Amino acid sequence: MSLKIAFSGTGYISKIHAKAAQVLPNVELTAVVNHRPESMAAFASEFDIPCQYATIEALLEDGGVDAISINTPNYLHAPQTLAALEAGIHVMLEKPMAMNAAEAEAMVAAAEGSGALLMVAHCWRFHEEVLWLKEQVDSGTIGDTIRTKGYSIHVNWGPGGWFTQKKLAGGGALADMGIHAIDTARFLVGDPQPVSVYARIGTYYKDFDVDDTGVLIINWDNGVTSYVESGWWQPHSDGPEASTQLYGTKGFAQLFPTGLKMPGTSEEPGTCDLIDPGFPSARDPHCAQSMYNAQMAYFVDCINTNRTPVPGGREGWINVKIVDAAYESARTGEVIKL
Ligand SMILES: NC(=O)c1ccc[n+]([C@@H]2O[C@H](COP(=O)([O-])OP(=O)(O)OC[C@H]3O[C@@H](n4cnc5c(N)ncnc54)[C@H](O)[C@@H]3O)[C@@H](O)[C@H]2O)c1
Repeated sequence: MSLKIAFSGTGYISKIHAKAAQVLPNVELTAVVNHRPESMAAFASEFDIPCQYATIEALLEDGGVDAISINTPNYLHAPQTLAALEAGIHVMLEKPMAMNAAEAEAMVAAAEGSGALLMVAHCWRFHEEVLWLKEQVDSGTIGDTIRTKGYSIHVNWGPGGWFTQKKLAGGGALADMGIHAIDTARFLVGDPQPVSVYARIGTYYKDFDVDDTGVLIINWDNGVTSYVESGWWQPHSDGPEASTQLYGTKGFAQLFPTGLKMPGTSEEPGTCDLIDPGFPSARDPHCAQSMYNAQMAYFVDCINTNRTPVPGGREGWINVKIVDAAYESARTGEVIKL
């Protein structure tokens, strides 16, 4: 029997998720939700989707879908997810999971009480280079990780529209981009709990009421410290979105470009040996469709095998808690304990 999936939102990322669903066997793209009829009709026609709804409530009233991919502006994430979960529909929701940690907590409670699954699309967990690097870290190649450095920055570019309005987005570059670097670092070091967050955040490049610049220091309960930079419109980034470096007791690991740097085997002091797994040196300018395909395939597999997705609501909630703590730290100048 095939799984019937709906899409809420018909913008940039919804198209990527629809492409990912289209190539899966036993998945039917059944419905689309958008308050704008023209873009909804274009999306329905592009992906051959039979049913269109102006609201998620209308879709849920009609029924006929098993799952929904929610890809709307951030302020709609909580209400749309809660409505779908209450109707027993499995949800794959875009990041950031919610406008704040209180909303995220309510969504986790709703998922855990509903019997329906909630996955949060922290997509970098599905990238082949991230998975390769995690295997190296997990198998102890670089020893114990002491600290990480990660970047999620748009250079000389930034989004517009709802992304730059606090009431619609919740936050700026940190909530939009920084959360990728936070989640990637957390995933690579084994999903520890955050203990404290210190941050400096501001708006320097454009005139809007959200941030375009952030630096964070996160301490985790396994002893690792993560340094994270977030930004839009920055003049430079040390690496592409989600690029992460790990400093271990035995060596160094790096994502994008991906490889290891180990102490040199020669007698010469100061030398190192580079381990290059041979991934292509240039990454897709933004993010490869293959990563989103793997993510959608995992969501469908979790539904078919009835297992809790990871990243699920709890991972999404922790990331939003860190974002909230960072904004509070920047506002107060204090280290925020979690
Ligand atoms: N993981 C990633 O790589 C990635 C990339 C881009 C965006 N995102 C996330 O995806 C979400 C959407 O971002 P985007 O870039 O696709 O934005 P977008 O502006 O391109 O698309 C948003 C869509 O939501 C629709 N919409 C607005 N109100 C609606 C409503 N009430 N019901 C249904 N649809 C409604 C808009 O018409 C539009 O089609 C955001 O949360 C963003 O952070 C994730």
